[in-house]
Amino acid sequence: MKISGKIKSFSSEIYVPSDKSITHRLFIFALSSKGTSIIRNPLLGADTLSTLSIVEQLGGRVERLEKSIVIKGKGLRDLDEPSDVLNCGNSGTTIRLFSGLLAAEKRGFFVLTGDNSLRNRPMGRIVKPLSIMGANIFSRQNFLAPLAIVGNKNGLDGINYNMPISSAQLKSCLILAGLKANSNSIITEPFPSRDHTELILSFLGINIKKIENSVHVYPSQELAPFELTVPGDPSSAAFFVVLATLVSKSRLIVKDVCLNPLRIGYIDVLKRMGAKIALEYISSDPEPIGNILVEGVEKLVATDIVPAEVPKIIDEIPIISIAMALAEGKSEISGAFDLRKKESDRISAICFNLKNMGVDIIEKEDGFILNGINELKSTNIKTFDDHRIAMAFSIAALLAKGESTIDNPSCCSISFPDFYDRLFRLCT
Ligand code: S3P
Repeated sequence: MKISGKIKSFSSEIYVPSDKSITHRLFIFALSSKGTSIIRNPLLGADTLSTLSIVEQLGGRVERLEKSIVIKGKGLRDLDEPSDVLNCGNSGTTIRLFSGLLAAEKRGFFVLTGDNSLRNRPMGRIVKPLSIMGANIFSRQNFLAPLAIVGNKNGLDGINYNMPISSAQLKSCLILAGLKANSNSIITEPFPSRDHTELILSFLGINIKKIENSVHVYPSQELAPFELTVPGDPSSAAFFVVLATLVSKSRLIVKDVCLNPLRIGYIDVLKRMGAKIALEYISSDPEPIGNILVEGVEKLVATDIVPAEVPKIIDEIPIISIAMALAEGKSEISGAFDLRKKESDRISAICFNLKNMGVDIIEKEDGFILNGINELKSTNIKTFDDHRIAMAFSIAALLAKGESTIDNPSCCSISFPDFYDRLFRLCT
């Protein structure tokens, strides 16, 4: 696909697709309830569809309506043993959350696998603590998927665990296992990561407490059915927020977005760089929701990102790197080693593409240092089949001088199936 640069200023009000993290969790929580739950406005992207089909394989009865998914669940325990492997596709959230849920089953045999990217992502982070809890969980060498789980008839013990990295997927995996365990758990992370699992479970009446960087989990017998609406995805909004910021005289309103503070760290970063962004809160419970109002500026200034900030912007670093590339001065990101373990090695993918666009960038093990420039060069963008790299560099291409090409635009369907339709509508 070709993308022409030098986009003109625009004024628009948009909606973005529903939140991916929240959709995954609501599908899994609905399976874990014995009643019938209604999930309104879910994201039906490739990743969340992987979760939904596994919900069905484990015995959830799924009805697909026009704007909602109705799930009659199986309850917290005694999920069906599937007759085939559970294919998580490209989705780290799917494999890690289901591992926690399934490792705590007392019977059954479950194999979790995925695509080539997922089968090369680190699973030791979940296999090790789940094994300490007593799980029978097996992996390939070097803790790679496929993972096999054999139910432990005695159930799992609770765990008091200091997570070696901040990761909402690992934290949620252990919370789900802890909910079904025989004793209490305390899970502590170095810096806070997104807390949708804690917020929503607590809203649904589960006894779970957040104390500083720790989550205290108390085993539960059941989970109540629910009716919840999924708000817009702040990570999907980020591409448009950065684009509007970087095109002076533009105005943009992104409506009905999840404004959970642990998801909108990128707005703080952009504001620090001089962006004009305001938030309009509309509702809360279990998640804060509202509108993001953006005005384009002439020029941003450089900024540094320190390790404590990384979990709050983990998915937005590719698009933040584009803002940094066009800012005045030297920007540096540190403490983002885990970015190498996402759908692609995102540090290397960012450095590869920015270099080709004329940016002076030094790759570090845990981030990069770059000097901002006034204009990006057009290039042949390599997506590495990673949705967030594809979308971030499509924005870069729209801002660059000349016409760029992009090798696999279809990978956006993971989180934002109609990204290009919406993007090109802004440009016309
Ligand atoms: C997610 C957590 C993050 C994020 C991913 C979704 C989640 O991963 O990168 O896109 O839904 O919990 P980590 O928790 O592994 O950093």
